Amino acid sequence: MSIATKPFGTLPTGEAVSLFTLTNKNGLSAKVTNYGGILVALHVPDRAGKLADVVLGKDTLKDYVAGHPYFGATTGRVAGRISGATFTLEGKTYPLAANNGPNCLHGGLQGYDKLVWAAETINDHGVDKLRLSITDPDGSNGFPGTVECTVTYALLDDNTLEIAYTASTDKTTPFNLTNHSYFNLKGAGKHDVLGHEVQIFADSVATIDADATLQGRRDPVIAGFNDYREPVLLSSRELNINNADIHFFLDNDRTKLPKSAAVVHEPKSGRLMEVFTTEPGVQFYAGLFLSVDAPEVGKGGVVYPRMGGFCLETQDYADSVTFPDMGGAILKPEETFTSTTLYRFSTK
Ligand code: BGC
Repeated sequence: MSIATKPFGTLPTGEAVSLFTLTNKNGLSAKVTNYGGILVALHVPDRAGKLADVVLGKDTLKDYVAGHPYFGATTGRVAGRISGATFTLEGKTYPLAANNGPNCLHGGLQGYDKLVWAAETINDHGVDKLRLSITDPDGSNGFPGTVECTVTYALLDDNTLEIAYTASTDKTTPFNLTNHSYFNLKGAGKHDVLGHEVQIFADSVATIDADATLQGRRDPVIAGFNDYREPVLLSSRELNINNADIHFFLDNDRTKLPKSAAVVHEPKSGRLMEVFTTEPGVQFYAGLFLSVDAPEVGKGGVVYPRMGGFCLETQDYADSVTFPDMGGAILKPEETFTSTTLYRFSTK
């Protein structure tokens, strides 16, 4: 495992941003920038050993800054939607920006995906890792409490991309972190994800309305519709927000060690991705809105098609602050948040 660093550009504020390349002993590589903690590229082999970049993204820092649908981003302080863009905590009501219909999505207007993270390489028990950290001040995006947060990326020699988080706060705050990578195991580009087989180990989903607003309810998965407990060929069902942009409650709650959350196989290339997480849930999003309003130009100038990538955003129930029975996406001063997600690659 090695980590190389090069400049990725300068922000309008004058801040310099870097691009880090993590390489493992099998030649897999992951590129990460400290702007937004974004996974920019991930090269993994197909059945014949041929490497391809399996995540969607942009070519340059300027393109990321111009705006994108959270490609590869570290998403917080609250990934997902807070209903009605407001919440009440300890008797106080906090207004947030409604940046997605009536809701506050992915932490608001200046979320973690747009921050410049401090970067350092560390050696953790013989493994080189990239550790990114931020201080998210009290009141930013309307949330209470100063949050100290780290995300650590490693590309392990068993072909696992490990993403581990820690966080602490000085006031109780809603808190839900995820990585928002869009995967396409055929290789990111002009192909959609419809040939992929997706399996998610969850027997219930979060109930939402037509705006994707969380309702504080969970419903059992429905066979043939949003039941992915056995592998589902994506082209075999009609995909909409209720089965392809939805929070799944994993069969186990929050766990100490990462447990199996999902498996995705792309039969043509043979690429297989297993997802393990300590989080209690996962948002499966099949890129339903990609290139819908305007063409989304990605790496190499390719226009990504609608459903050009899928996300498996491991996380807790985003609006736990309003619906505490649904999850525990709240961070308290006496706690340390830790969370690990593994994306493991092989072929079949
Ligand atoms: C949301 C989608 C949204 C996407 C990009 C996902 O986490 O559930 O509705 O379009 O992020 O913002």
